[in-house]
Amino acid sequence: MCGIVGYTGFRDAYEIVINGLKRLEYRGYDSAGIVLENNKNEVELKKAKGKVSDLEAIAGNLKNTSHVGMGHTRWATHGVPSDINSHPHVSNNGKIVLVHNGIIENYETIKIMLSQKGFVFHSQTDTEVLANFIQYFMDESGKDFAEAVRAALSEVYGAYAIAALHVDYPGQFVVGRLSSPLAIGLGDKEYFIASDASPFVEFTKEAIYLEDGHMALISLDRGVDIRLIKDNSKVDAEIQQLQISLEQIEKGGYDHFMLKEIFEQPKSIHDTMRGRLLLDEGIIKMAGIWDHLERIQAAKRIIIIACGTSWHAGLIGEYLIEEFARIPVEVEYASEFRYRNPIITPKDVVIAISQSGETADTMAAIKLAKEKGAFVYGICNVIGSSIARITHAGSYTHAGPEIGVASTKAFTAQLTILAMIALKLGKHNGNLNNTEFMQYLYELDAIPKKIEEVLASSHDTAKQIAEEFVNATNFLYLGRGYNFPAALEGALKLKEISYIHAEGYPAAEMKHGPIALIDENMPMVIIAPKQGYYDKIVSNVQEIKARKGRIIALVNKGDEQVASMADYVIEFPETSECFSPMMASVPLQLLAYYIAVFRGVNVDQPRNLAKSVTVE
Ligand code: M6R
Repeated sequence: MCGIVGYTGFRDAYEIVINGLKRLEYRGYDSAGIVLENNKNEVELKKAKGKVSDLEAIAGNLKNTSHVGMGHTRWATHGVPSDINSHPHVSNNGKIVLVHNGIIENYETIKIMLSQKGFVFHSQTDTEVLANFIQYFMDESGKDFAEAVRAALSEVYGAYAIAALHVDYPGQFVVGRLSSPLAIGLGDKEYFIASDASPFVEFTKEAIYLEDGHMALISLDRGVDIRLIKDNSKVDAEIQQLQISLEQIEKGGYDHFMLKEIFEQPKSIHDTMRGRLLLDEGIIKMAGIWDHLERIQAAKRIIIIACGTSWHAGLIGEYLIEEFARIPVEVEYASEFRYRNPIITPKDVVIAISQSGETADTMAAIKLAKEKGAFVYGICNVIGSSIARITHAGSYTHAGPEIGVASTKAFTAQLTILAMIALKLGKHNGNLNNTEFMQYLYELDAIPKKIEEVLASSHDTAKQIAEEFVNATNFLYLGRGYNFPAALEGALKLKEISYIHAEGYPAAEMKHGPIALIDENMPMVIIAPKQGYYDKIVSNVQEIKARKGRIIALVNKGDEQVASMADYVIEFPETSECFSPMMASVPLQLLAYYIAVFRGVNVDQPRNLAKSVTVE
């Protein structure tokens, strides 16, 4: 997964590309590159291992030299991060320049064929192979540039979003996509290409999201000419009106996007409920669910598929749907589901959860479920994303752009959607009577306000605790019921941004193994709200205390029993157990954030990770 930006028009292409790459760095940040056309039918290319800021240091002289160019920010798949493996890649004849996001799975076979024909390769990448494959089609069969790109793309498989330039075709981009996103921004006498709309949102609100199997020739004189890769037939693409603003994708005074996104949660949860949770009318109005209510209601079982944080949201979704709708639910890692020949029937409903809407494993699992006849419902945050488009129906979370690699506000927005789905199904099938339903509606509606309280009351405490534990090497997170997945999520947040080993466990499982780890050095984070299994948790805390574990307890305001045994206490307001993970997750996000900050980690771009995992 990488980020691609391209521009042709009247502005300084260097500025557009560099600024665009900075906005796409969440997609990968181990190396970056830029290529600009000059007016002598040549290109100027700079690329290097490191971040976009490192690229700026070596490419600053290209400022104000061109109106056509493109760039790339990389997350390595084939070949280590290095100058030579960075994109753009150039064909052997020096004429074709290519940037690519994805994996060409059959690149080895093509590379062998091209090597036998005398092509030479300098990098270890699949992208350099594709650049030369395009040259091969131009050399061997005299195809023009766009036709040669089409011929090459017809023979590769895997996943790609590509953008290519050719020095003999100045001012033209050829782009194509299969399973990796690519948006084309339509301005007045200018066009933009990018992996998402963030690089061009301040210049135009009109965009085309390229579909799988489509390619486009883009130039100022010919406009955007979209074709099917398989047979070159013309495609009329839908122009979308962008809904994101520049403000939404900037840091707004916070040190990191992650902190901004943690603090946005009252608003993002509110936005996710807006127009859907209608207290006055006593209903939950969700078009995606309403249109398919009978199908979902009749499901023999619901299978939730997702990865990472979205999978943790899915686990909480299981508890919610089984409790309120009484439909059996199974939660699967998309990466396992797709490879284990699962039993899926047309009577199953699959819910796919993904912030980015681009996760390769989740996409593949959806395709498998569709092939087997299941109805697939998507819960995505990114509007127009691939998953949102390939599912039969779905709901957006409306959390707004999430840039920090560690998912925060998207998680609580996913929980909000899942709660609304579960309550709506429960009301519809009579498992919840009107009084119960209304009580939950009021509680859910109150969550944004309560999260504001948690942010205000827990911020400084989480920061102080973080300072104490900055040198810890292990953490255990425990919770019961709805808060077991919250414990898993707390541990994941800490791992991914602080590089401290952490594990989440159901508190009662502790005695089946992890208890052996407890000593006076082991930080134990316990989620212990009043509702739920409080008495059981009290016993677990006593067991930890007896073994001298260092207890960080998340308790409801005014709690005395657990608080009195804990070394550190974070309070949050009471709510029903089913909504408590939304509250408990916030201080856990803050704790992970500050531990990482104190350890000097680049919180928004932790090592080895990227925001959307568009490769297997
Ligand atoms: O975009 P998705 O929700 O499909 O992404 C799934 C995971 O890659 C993602 O949640 C990942 O675990 C995050 N870095 C967690 O913070």
